[in-house]
Amino acid sequence: MQTVQGVAVARTCAEFSAWCRSFRAGGRTLGLVPTMGALHQGHATLMRMAAQHADGVAVSIFVNPKQFGPAEDFGRYPRQFEGDCALCAAAGVAVVFAPAVEELYPAGFQTRVEVEQLQARWEGQSRPGHFAGVATVGIKLLNLALADVAVFGEKDWQQLAIVARMARDLGHPTRILGAPIARDPDGLAQSSRNAYLSADERSRARAISAGLRAVARAAADGQRATAPLVAQLRAHIEAAGGRIDYATIVDAATLEHLDCLDRPARALVAAWFGAPKLLDNWALGPSDSADAGNMR
Ligand code: PAJ
Repeated sequence: MQTVQGVAVARTCAEFSAWCRSFRAGGRTLGLVPTMGALHQGHATLMRMAAQHADGVAVSIFVNPKQFGPAEDFGRYPRQFEGDCALCAAAGVAVVFAPAVEELYPAGFQTRVEVEQLQARWEGQSRPGHFAGVATVGIKLLNLALADVAVFGEKDWQQLAIVARMARDLGHPTRILGAPIARDPDGLAQSSRNAYLSADERSRARAISAGLRAVARAAADGQRATAPLVAQLRAHIEAAGGRIDYATIVDAATLEHLDCLDRPARALVAAWFGAPKLLDNWALGPSDSADAGNMR
């Protein structure tokens, strides 16, 4: 196997699954962290969490064409493989899986995994087909690694809910864990797409996390009806010049809109400040578990 910046790199499915099998054969446990590269400290948080739950960590780096719409940034998505491998090596990652597109989707590939209800809402409405692409690559990566745990970020709450649901529905042996959102000191959730923000957009985009934090505080102070909370959140973001795709408060597991905070809930936001759409969310009400396998 090739080594890049001090970390072993598997390029083919056969190589990767053989590596994972032999790693686990000695009784060692394995953690998987799927990514699309352009790695930042948010991804490093996932690697650390995987390392806390397993003896070794495998990271996949694959810009998955099936989850990008025709007008989206697949071609322009930031690619920085050497730097990504250096970050993985520094994080103590045991192996990186970086396949070519034809390796994961060989000619004739035609299977699609759909998580019907969860994929239809919120992010799924503005990005048709996106979550089928995520679920399809997700099950492939889970099957190749057969890891003990796989870690996904709470930053993409709907994605985490969908992957956890899929793994449960299909009886997959890997436990799906959610890692807390890594934020920059100004509160902005870290994202590979933040690189597209101008300095002005970036400073205005702080309104997203500030608005979420304010709503969480109001909820903790006893505000139970969600309508005033959502109105407050929208006003906060719009006052900073953000264009909202959706801002809502949902049941943390089913992602259905909630009128009243009577169960674990999440405030979800997607808003544009300039070109990139930014996603963020915040836990409200009784806390939810990091073990996404427990999502109802
Ligand atoms: P990507 O955007 O590279 O993100 C990889 C993982 O890192 C996801 O689970 C995402 O939620 C998590 N992540 C990103 N930014 C984070 C932050 N600031 N804090 C915590 N976690 C963060 O999400 C994808 O790739 C793809 O859809 C993928 C799951 C790899 C399937 O192709």
